[in-house]
Amino acid sequence: MTVFAIVNQKGGVGKTVSAVNLAHGFALRGYRTLLVDLDPQGNVADCLGLPPGNDLYRLLFPDMGIPLEQVVIPSGRPGLDVVRSDKSTVNLKISIGALADRPREYVLDDALRDAPYDVIFLDCAPSIDILHTLAVVAAHYLLVPTRLDQLAVKGVRDMLVTLQSLSRITTCELGAILPTFYDRTTNESYLQLKHLAETFRDSVWPPVPQDVVCRESTRFGKTLWEYAPATRAITGYPDKAGRMIGGYKQVVDRVEKGLLQ
Ligand SMILES: Nc1ncnc2c1ncn2[C@@H]1O[C@H](COP(=O)(O)OP(=O)(O)OP(=O)(O)O)[C@@H](O)[C@H]1O
Ligand SMILES: [Mg+2]
Repeated sequence: MTVFAIVNQKGGVGKTVSAVNLAHGFALRGYRTLLVDLDPQGNVADCLGLPPGNDLYRLLFPDMGIPLEQVVIPSGRPGLDVVRSDKSTVNLKISIGALADRPREYVLDDALRDAPYDVIFLDCAPSIDILHTLAVVAAHYLLVPTRLDQLAVKGVRDMLVTLQSLSRITTCELGAILPTFYDRTTNESYLQLKHLAETFRDSVWPPVPQDVVCRESTRFGKTLWEYAPATRAITGYPDKAGRMIGGYKQVVDRVEKGLLQ
């Protein structure tokens, strides 16, 4: 089983869209996949067209002790189960934060141990808080979506500092930086991508293009694979030689080839 935490403390960079589409991408390839929403905004349920729910609260609330198999719900897509989040996650954070008797940082790691899945994606909130720590501790790899703007390098650096600060209690590593909202018609996108690649080298993967279909599919509660599998955000864009670059299909390929344990 391999656990990926989708993190960036900056908001609106494409964390949830990445988590939902990578999770469904893996389920479509036959992997038993779990998607866990750690964000009180509860956007995972919206993106999948599911009703809201407090599954995460029931899974992790101290002393409630409901096992994972009793809180997950089927997403309605073969091979993809979900742990939803909602406003109750705010209270959950407070309760876990107040725990003193056992190392609270391992609460999610414990809950996911021996889970019957091949791959698990953790969709994190745009904040550094206790749930963020739980996700990094439970994960094998971080995937860091980032918009291509002036603050992209800083945002990724902040994530690496957080990862470093937790190195005593987790073996989690940086898996990939996923540039999102790539607009190849603007010099800004190109220059920022170049800057990111010069700074973080091979950790920077080919970008996911900016694509209005992402917003539409979210609104209809469908993944991109269901709503528009041939759209740019999935297929990437053609380079000068006509080869397709970037997009979620390539991200799934690269994770599958390089990061599964
Ligand atoms: N590649 C893309 N092109 C265009 N729009 C996108 C793309 N990726 C995501 N979006 C849209 O941008 C908005 C923010 O995306 P998303 O919710 O995935 O970001 P997030 O990082 O999870 O945000 P938050 O930090 O609030 O959790 C959504 O409306 C989504 O549909
Ligand atoms: Mg989100």
